Amino acid sequence: MSKILITSALPYINGVPHLGHIVGCLLPSDIYARYMRLKGEEVLYIAGTDEHGTTSEVGALKEEMDIQAYCDMYHQRHAKTYKDFNLSFDYFGRTSSEQNKEITYHIFERLDKNGFIEERTVKQVYSVDDKMFLADRYITGTCPHCGYEKARGDQCENCTKVLEPTELINPRSSISGSANLEVRETKHLFLNLPKLEKRLAQWIKTKEPFWPEVAYTIAQKWLKEGLQSRCITRDLKWGFPVNKAGYEDKVFYVWFDAPIGYIGITKQWADAKPSERDWRDWWLNAKDVRHVEFMGKDNVPYHSITFPATLLGTGENWTQVDYLKGMSYLTYEGGKFSKSEKRGIFAEDAIKEFPADYWRYWLMSNAPEGSDASFGFDLFAAVVNKDLNSVLGNFVSRVLKMTASKIDSEVPAGGNLEQPEKELINTLQIRVKDYLKYMDEMEFRKALNELRAIWVEGNNYISVTEPWTVIKTDEARAAAILRVCINLIRIFAVLSAPIMPTISASMLQRLGLTPADMPSLKDFDVSREIEALKPGTPFTVGETLFERITPEKIEELKQKYGSSK
Ligand code: 2FM
Ligand code: ZN
Repeated sequence: MSKILITSALPYINGVPHLGHIVGCLLPSDIYARYMRLKGEEVLYIAGTDEHGTTSEVGALKEEMDIQAYCDMYHQRHAKTYKDFNLSFDYFGRTSSEQNKEITYHIFERLDKNGFIEERTVKQVYSVDDKMFLADRYITGTCPHCGYEKARGDQCENCTKVLEPTELINPRSSISGSANLEVRETKHLFLNLPKLEKRLAQWIKTKEPFWPEVAYTIAQKWLKEGLQSRCITRDLKWGFPVNKAGYEDKVFYVWFDAPIGYIGITKQWADAKPSERDWRDWWLNAKDVRHVEFMGKDNVPYHSITFPATLLGTGENWTQVDYLKGMSYLTYEGGKFSKSEKRGIFAEDAIKEFPADYWRYWLMSNAPEGSDASFGFDLFAAVVNKDLNSVLGNFVSRVLKMTASKIDSEVPAGGNLEQPEKELINTLQIRVKDYLKYMDEMEFRKALNELRAIWVEGNNYISVTEPWTVIKTDEARAAAILRVCINLIRIFAVLSAPIMPTISASMLQRLGLTPADMPSLKDFDVSREIEALKPGTPFTVGETLFERITPEKIEELKQKYGSSK
């Protein structure tokens, strides 16, 4: 038994999550956590909201809310949405927590004491009317290269040129629209990454055989280009005030305390039951902890370079990331999800339209691994109707209905396992082994392909053996076939549990079982499991597992959520 610490990138608090956020880190981490628990591993699965930064301040201003109330409200909305998606966090916390503040202060003090913090004076745009320094992206003006009038201070969306805010023509604040801007000098603190570069490079080298190529390549590219010191303070009101004399009116940059949030949230989890839990067991001088992080690919530099360097600079023995699963992006009907343009289905609405497991299955079987993926309602309906309804759902109802009507509502007795069963077992042993291997490797698309193939084997088996014909002449043989089929339902339920926990529980319930009765996925042996349900075990037929999505419904959804077609 080893300890597996699983973290999902912490979603920004401002705004509500869309399907891209769900599939980009939260859902794959949940599936991996559920899978590892089913293998009997000791898992701690941590996530939460990333609450600091300009975007939160501006979001609260726009909604005319007090920032704390704004974050409290959105934290609840995020938490509810993820609960609706059945994400099984051990704790869903907040980067703004007291626990995170305490750990952020500790880490900063250590870095400062060890000489990795430098002070620098920088020039920054100040909005006199907004009474704040503006982050580059909150300054709007005309692009000096192409004349686009809504270029942002960091980049022109039209010609994609990277900009300095001072290059903009007619600059104004994106918050108030005010043009009363000045360039003022201000002091900031920087994390001296060049000083940590050698140590970091050595550490990354130790990860080469284990990290996926994409993460390793990104980290190497950064190292090759040479690391720059990074500013870790901001002139904002919302955030942790800097615990250093002369900087009390500044706060830490959101990307400084966000990854520390993994530790802070673990402490929130531990503080909920202090007599049983110690956050250090997972993070500080922790033994046998394997840390697996899930994130969008844009997060990889922070988690392979800046955060590891931050921890290394403390001189303490913090748990570092062992495996980084970086995901690409999900687009909506080929374009971007956009709340303001009313394009795309957001998570809160998605769950009102269909049960979580429909989404979980579709998103993971089309996961943006390696390259981007596109969501569309036609694609979604095709997968739900075929894989879930025709292949899995029909198998379950057909087998249970046939057994109940032709024999009895219990697992039938009689007959033996013959050649077709031996072939089925051999085929499934190989497929199940591959499925488990892909889950271990976090190759989710491939894993789900195998899972679907396993369901298809069940359908092939019943088509070839034809118990409905056999029963007319050989009742014992038909009983043996249907007994195998009912055991297949149990096997399908166990293998599907990490992906579709509710559907899995519903399948088990028909067989008089609960999720707690599931066998371990470690050393899962089809030849043993195919006979696990003994003759005489009662079952119920139950409702159909999945509803078909009609063409009318698809049209309705396209109208409601926007479509390119
Ligand atoms: O990209 C994002 O959504 C960030 N809020 C992720 C932060 S992950 C971790 F560092 F907290
Ligand atoms: Zn431009």
